[in-house]
Amino acid sequence: MDIKNKTIWVTGASSGIGMELCRQLAKLDARLVLSARREESLIELAESLPGGRSRHWVMPLDLADADNLLDKVTPQLADIGPVHILINNGGISQRSLFVDTDLSVYRQLMEVNYIGTLAMTKALLPGMLERQEGMIVSISSVAGKVGSKLRTGYSGSKYAVVGFMDCLRAETAQQGIHCLTVCPGSIKTNIAINALNEHGKAQNKNDESIINGMSVERCAEDIIKAMIKGRDEIVVGKGLSALAPTIKRFFPRFFNKMSARMEYR
Ligand SMILES: NC(=O)c1ccc[n+]([C@@H]2O[C@H](COP(=O)([O-])OP(=O)(O)OC[C@H]3O[C@@H](n4cnc5c(N)ncnc54)[C@H](OP(=O)(O)O)[C@@H]3O)[C@@H](O)[C@H]2O)c1
Repeated sequence: MDIKNKTIWVTGASSGIGMELCRQLAKLDARLVLSARREESLIELAESLPGGRSRHWVMPLDLADADNLLDKVTPQLADIGPVHILINNGGISQRSLFVDTDLSVYRQLMEVNYIGTLAMTKALLPGMLERQEGMIVSISSVAGKVGSKLRTGYSGSKYAVVGFMDCLRAETAQQGIHCLTVCPGSIKTNIAINALNEHGKAQNKNDESIINGMSVERCAEDIIKAMIKGRDEIVVGKGLSALAPTIKRFFPRFFNKMSARMEYR
């Protein structure tokens, strides 16, 4: 799909992959709707984009509040007009062992990463179906393809996103809707710093794998290329984090042994 003059709604636009996607998409002449919880960061981003706030919208929302998302998003569509592409990017990770982790942390991860994705898609897909044209992009993870330590809840929520997107693609492909699932490996963002510990608090420290990960600029470039080419699913990353799904697919026992020996992917 061509990006020029398309309206693209991006969740998780206040930081990391989402923020960089917005910067690059705006340079390709897209109009953006910026969502996340931190309104100040969204306003700052909108003002820095070509065309500023007269071209781009700021729409703060909490993906954990899925029950109210539809009511919040739908009335805005009258002002915004047709949304051509939704990028479900907002999300939160985890760093804690299953035995130590409160059940509430699993609910929180599922609410934000999975139910939040469903709710945004429910709000924006009907308009796309009416126009028989649109694209849903969901940022899952390599953790949505393989398991590793400390991510039982995160991985579960990201596997769920992969499954949701596979089913949605099958249901909507013949109605002009394109579904792209993105599975990033380790990308240099605040994802590890913001990751939840066993009690649902940010762990507030970085991981070696993230510090040495792919740049956010390269990650956003690869995602946009996949959107333009109309790909169904991509893995984005470098080194082992990008190879993991292929190793698991062809050598599952080897992968599982390796995963049990490693502290971090
Ligand atoms: N970086 C990686 O290595 C990596 C790897 C695989 C997958 N991913 C996925 O990539 C996506 C983007 O993450 P990132 O790496 O860019 O991390 P990040 O820098 O921590 O950004 C996460 C974004 O999600 C938003 N967000 C978190 N909770 C939210 C909520 N309850 N409601 C609305 N927005 C919320 C945050 O905004 P607010 O705090 O302002 O709400 C922020 O904009 C996530 O889905 C993540 O799981 C990242």
